[in-house]
Amino acid sequence: QDNQPAAAGANEADESLREAADSVRQGGLVAFPTETVYGLGANALMTEAVEGIFQAKGRPSDNPLIVHVASETDLEELVLPYPPLAARLMERFWPGPLTIVLPVRPNVLSPLVTAGLPTVGVRMPRHPVALQLIKLAGCPVAAPSANRSGRPSPTLASHVLEDLAGRIDGIIDGGAAGVGLESTVVELEGERGIRILRPGGVTAEAIRLALPDAEVISEPETGAAPEQPRSPGMKYTHYAPKGELAIVQGKPEAVVSYVNEQAKLLKADGAATGVLSFSERASRYDADLVLDLGSESKLEDAAHRLYSALRRFDEAGIDRIWSEACPAEGIGGALMNRLVKASGGTIVELDK
Ligand code: TXA
Ligand code: MG
Repeated sequence: QDNQPAAAGANEADESLREAADSVRQGGLVAFPTETVYGLGANALMTEAVEGIFQAKGRPSDNPLIVHVASETDLEELVLPYPPLAARLMERFWPGPLTIVLPVRPNVLSPLVTAGLPTVGVRMPRHPVALQLIKLAGCPVAAPSANRSGRPSPTLASHVLEDLAGRIDGIIDGGAAGVGLESTVVELEGERGIRILRPGGVTAEAIRLALPDAEVISEPETGAAPEQPRSPGMKYTHYAPKGELAIVQGKPEAVVSYVNEQAKLLKADGAATGVLSFSERASRYDADLVLDLGSESKLEDAAHRLYSALRRFDEAGIDRIWSEACPAEGIGGALMNRLVKASGGTIVELDK
């Protein structure tokens, strides 16, 4: 039979990926899935294209973009010689959710990509569609998360359309993004230091395990924006839900009763209330909208669901949201980082 639907489907997918890659090479803006969140890709060598990213997102121009590559040969053209520690990180974690800040080679990338910094954040994604898109485009691909600035990063193609429909040239729907939180951003300090600028898909523990002789430096999560941020993106408040979000920490029983008391009071005032809970206690909250992040013994699920959940609170017009907390270990570190940012640092400590 020369008419097999499966084969035809695969060809169509190939064809649309090729079209998307052509569009990127020629200066178009194309959203695509990665193993972290959806990215909004543009040719990193073309200033007009990169300018389009900032416009479509409404992103401040002093916040630099991550450049995505498909091979280490591609990388060599973009950066100056880098220390062996960086090479070891790449060897261990690429392709994957790790962005490494390296000295940029002058006059190659559009200057808008680096926002005037002497460095560039680079990563090689693991998602097959992302890798293939970059390969076919044949150019380095600048790609921030494909959301409007100030909204949660998109983990589904429908999130991208909610934020960017009419502002971009195309989107490749690859289903749900993997990790659900953005990549880990690191910079090197001296010969042994690896500073985590943004916790993400590659955990601090995984880096320590892979490179036992390195010193991994990660800052505790306070919610306060650093005065002199080492990563420009860290000074922006990021996503905050339309409703006020508070993180409630303490013994599980105490958290449930505190949240239910507060919710009762606020409901009496006519407020719409929401709770972000782990499965273990989700059925015990009396709020208008209780969203279940999955079991607290499987924080990967919570990471995967967080941004969708935050979007749903906005859609439902929730005024006040309480969120449970989790230990800042493993992927929990990145999860708490995003929650603390979304709460603007509002943390209620019940049993301290
Ligand atoms: O998972 C991800 O990293 C996704 C996908 C699409 O790859 N991209 C992403 O990009 O999250 P964006 O633009 O939303 O976040 C980039 C972060 C920002 O916090 C930015 O400040 C930081 O990386 N960054 C970029 N270049 C940097 C540099 N040269 N030095 C320090 N931080 C940098
Ligand atoms: Mg972003």
